[in-house]
Amino acid sequence: MKILVTGAAGFIGANFVYYELGAHADDEIVGLDSLTYAGNLETLEGAIKDGRFRFVKADITDADAVERVFTEDGFDVVVNFAAESHVDRSIEDPSVFLKTNILGTQLLMDAARRHDVPRYHQVSTDEVYGDLPLDRPDLLFTEETPIHTSSPYSASKAAADLLVQAYHRTHGFPATISRCSNNYGPYQFPEKLIPLMIANALADKPLPVYGEGLNVRDWLYVWDHCAAVDRVMRGGKVGEVYNIGGHNEMRNIDIVKIILEKLGKPESLITYVTDRKGHDLRYAIDPSKISAELGWLPATKFADGISRTIDWYLANKPWWERIVSGEYREYYEKMYGDR
Ligand code: NAD
Ligand code: DAU
Repeated sequence: MKILVTGAAGFIGANFVYYELGAHADDEIVGLDSLTYAGNLETLEGAIKDGRFRFVKADITDADAVERVFTEDGFDVVVNFAAESHVDRSIEDPSVFLKTNILGTQLLMDAARRHDVPRYHQVSTDEVYGDLPLDRPDLLFTEETPIHTSSPYSASKAAADLLVQAYHRTHGFPATISRCSNNYGPYQFPEKLIPLMIANALADKPLPVYGEGLNVRDWLYVWDHCAAVDRVMRGGKVGEVYNIGGHNEMRNIDIVKIILEKLGKPESLITYVTDRKGHDLRYAIDPSKISAELGWLPATKFADGISRTIDWYLANKPWWERIVSGEYREYYEKMYGDR
């Protein structure tokens, strides 16, 4: 199989490249990424050394560049991870979210159609379903839960999903969509909860917990997400949506306390800060469809995944310290300076 992976230099895209290279010896991958603040080519160093992988720096919103990539290589499948992915940034400036997440998806699908690519997979998110109440643990997101977005980020991802479904209905475009819960693991940019808290704790800096820290997320180890996307793109039914999650709901404050405990740092580092605007209360995925139809089940228990993740950040300090010391610092000041 020849696979085009967009967003390949980001957190999940890069993990997916490594997953595919490891799981399918005959596959070839073209990794495309425009290297925004979140894209880090260093992450792909190992893949670049593998003769089955090629990196292309290109923007999915640049029609000519995208067309060149599809002309140079014929693909059996396109997997679109490329996106602006951070909710807080979308609240500050939504424009690039609309451009990349919606128009970029349209351009990619148009190129895939022109070149008769037999399969397209859209990596979406559980955030398109909005949120669930904290006091109704019986409620979970199913594929039938109505789209009901809260942030400019989730609205842009939902718009892309609707466009993918419209292309399928209108043109018979051979697409699938997956909607996963929160991922954690190696190579996550240290603006997201878990790596940010690890980096701050190691530097003995305050750990900024939004509101009271009672919001709930459904955490999945990134490798399990990659395995699920692999199943969907190979065996999923065209036109279908698959939810991905591992029944692992946790409150933010409990995650932060686990990280402090594992690093041997005091809870006095926890600092409660102004809540995120429109902050979704709770996400919780019902993954029974992907389990029943494609036999996917999560393999990593949270206790193992979080230890592995912390160990990775301890062993790979140069990777994230270069991020923390660069452009990210200005962003950090803007987000947390007044809080
Ligand atoms: P990320 O921000 O770490 O990586 C995104 C990558 O896309 C970066 O390498 C960036 O350079 C690239 N990119 C951005 N704009 C681009 C453009 N216009 N052209 C080409 N490349 C571009 O994000 P992530 O956490 O790896 O998320 C990947 C995908 O998975 C996203 O679509 C996101 O919505 C979805 N998702 C993420 C999570 C999560 O918990 N992180 C959960 C569910 C779904
Ligand atoms: O559910 C899937 C989504 O998960 C993906 O679609 C997004 O791309 C991904 O960023 C993630 O979104 P969240 O907003 O849930 O992730 P984040 O790591 O930004 O925040 C997780 C929770 O932690 C959320 O309730 C906000 C809180 N938080 C976050 C940060 C960065 C804090 O309390 N303090 C912080 O500094």
